[in-house]
Amino acid sequence: MEKTLFIIKPDAVCENNTAGILALVTTAGFSIRAIKMTRFNWAKASKFYAEHKGKAFYAPLIKFMTSNPVIAVVLERENAVKKLREIVGKTNPAEAARGTIRKKYARDGRHNAVHASDSLSSAKREIPFFFKASEIKDWKYIDYPVIK
Ligand code: CMP
Repeated sequence: MEKTLFIIKPDAVCENNTAGILALVTTAGFSIRAIKMTRFNWAKASKFYAEHKGKAFYAPLIKFMTSNPVIAVVLERENAVKKLREIVGKTNPAEAARGTIRKKYARDGRHNAVHASDSLSSAKREIPFFFKASEIKDWKYIDYPVIK
């Protein structure tokens, strides 16, 4: 089993697409191991997207990602990184395959609804931006006795 980081971006959160997006992800066999609504500040977003520093889209990207809340999710399944990237689709929805999350929910190449870690090493770097190890659980349902 592999874990990866998934982010529902501000455009999709504000357009109330969270439930539709999570339904696509869980239908594809992913389990949610941790989830939270939070907001990037400038420093955290700059660090998260450090690999894009110097590119023309870097500053607008940080502005967008800090504009409103995001929903950060740790997802788990076999081959999670590769499989999630498949169902997310290409960065630009105009190029994304039919049936992918970005084809359905993204506005354009920047406001593209979701983020998915691009490798296992990225997932290991990105997950701690949002979650402590103690917050990521493999919950097993336990039928606790009712206390009267
Ligand atoms: P993501 O792949 O999640 O992470 C990098 C983000 O930068 C990407 O999603 C887009 O939101 C944004 N991005 C990448 N390429 C471009 C581009 N050419 N123009 C605008 N934004 C971009």
